[in-house]
Amino acid sequence: MMLEAFKKYKAIRNMDIGEEGYGQVGSVFRDEHDRLWLHLNGKVSKRYAGELTPLIRRTGNEANPFDVDTSDLFTPFAARSRNLERHADFLCLDEAPLVQKEEKLTRTHVSQTSPTPYGEMLAPLFDIFMAPEILNEVLIRTSVPEVLRQEKPLSSGVILYGEGGTGKTALQRAIADVYERAGAHAAELNVAALSEKYIGSLAHNLDAAIAEVIEKTAKSGRPAFIFLDEATSLVMSSESHNSSGADYYQEAVDVLKKYIANYPDLVFSITTNADPESFDDTLIRDGRLAPVRIPAPGRSEKAAMWRFFLKKHEVFEEISEGEALQLADGIPNEKGAFISRFCKDYLARKKLAMETARAASGSLLESLAAGHFIGLDMVKKTLSLDTLMLDIQKALQLRPGKPVKAAMGFLKKSAT
Ligand SMILES: Nc1ncnc2c1ncn2[C@@H]1O[C@H](COP(=O)(O)OP(=O)(O)OP(=O)(O)O)[C@@H](O)[C@H]1O
Ligand SMILES: [Mg+2]
Repeated sequence: MMLEAFKKYKAIRNMDIGEEGYGQVGSVFRDEHDRLWLHLNGKVSKRYAGELTPLIRRTGNEANPFDVDTSDLFTPFAARSRNLERHADFLCLDEAPLVQKEEKLTRTHVSQTSPTPYGEMLAPLFDIFMAPEILNEVLIRTSVPEVLRQEKPLSSGVILYGEGGTGKTALQRAIADVYERAGAHAAELNVAALSEKYIGSLAHNLDAAIAEVIEKTAKSGRPAFIFLDEATSLVMSSESHNSSGADYYQEAVDVLKKYIANYPDLVFSITTNADPESFDDTLIRDGRLAPVRIPAPGRSEKAAMWRFFLKKHEVFEEISEGEALQLADGIPNEKGAFISRFCKDYLARKKLAMETARAASGSLLESLAAGHFIGLDMVKKTLSLDTLMLDIQKALQLRPGKPVKAAMGFLKKSAT
């Protein structure tokens, strides 16, 4: 038997009916719904190496002709279902989410109090499209890996900075969502609201708001993600404020610093459009908050966003990789905010255009009065990728005259 062991490395798809072998690393993995997938180009051999090499047996030629022993299998997360579903090389072994198997897994990987599969907890982040090295940095700095495994945070947070519309706010909200899904806390603090409560008491209100969050973390023993959107005034050094605002904000910055240094259960995130040159040094020194620049999306992130938002807003169910790249190339200077907005409005705009066109005068009012309503299904039938591309170009030309938010010299700098 052991001599057999080294004989064979064979692609799973080439196994004969009745043949058995151990799938090598990478032959079985999970998607974000915790369904298991078999990679038909993965290899089997007679060699068994433990939790990573499941026994696979070919049982026939029909649609799902493999038996895979997944009982003790450790299956790494490897890919998103929507990418897998399109490929003939991947075979889904499960229809329902594998909660039961996951529970087995959790014994060694997370405490038993959290039966939620990792993929489900992380789901909000799968809708954020950023270069992996940027996203990795943000996730590490916001202690997402520890929160997921029910451990103590290792980092105290980030300042997300950069041009408008690149997804800073969306990313921050997704992380907050992941914290809550993982059984930890998330609290959004709003500088404007905290300033209004009692005039002149931003620092005091901020202090009280954070103390409230600490109470929660103390009770539950779980960390908290405290996030502030567009809180430029809280990251700027006193020299960068005009003299009248300096003390007022400095006190609030000092409150932040007090908590960041002394409460390891708190993880902060602040977004800003400000130049990192103006950040308060002591806020980012000694591993307090890590400034991370969120850059404009690259070609492949833009393509992924076109696919995602066109589908989300029911414009096109599926477009090809090449088409998505073509759309990405059509908007060299735009960010995710443009794509998301365009897709969100698209069907309604097309519908309106068709309704208006029915009135001889082109007047919407006349068209409405005459009851020229057109159903969305009808609108969808008229859509094509070519018209979409033309409409994108029109939208670019018709953009409101508002200048693009200043990049403030970010382009030359890097975050770390
Ligand atoms: N990288 C991205 N991934 C996913 N969605 C994105 C991304 N960038 C932008 N979006 C979409 O565009 C919308 C606007 O982006 P968002 O408000 O997060 O940008 P921002 O960087 O916070 O901009 P600002 O600096 O103007 O506040 C988001 O709600 C989201 O739908
Ligand atoms: Mg924002």
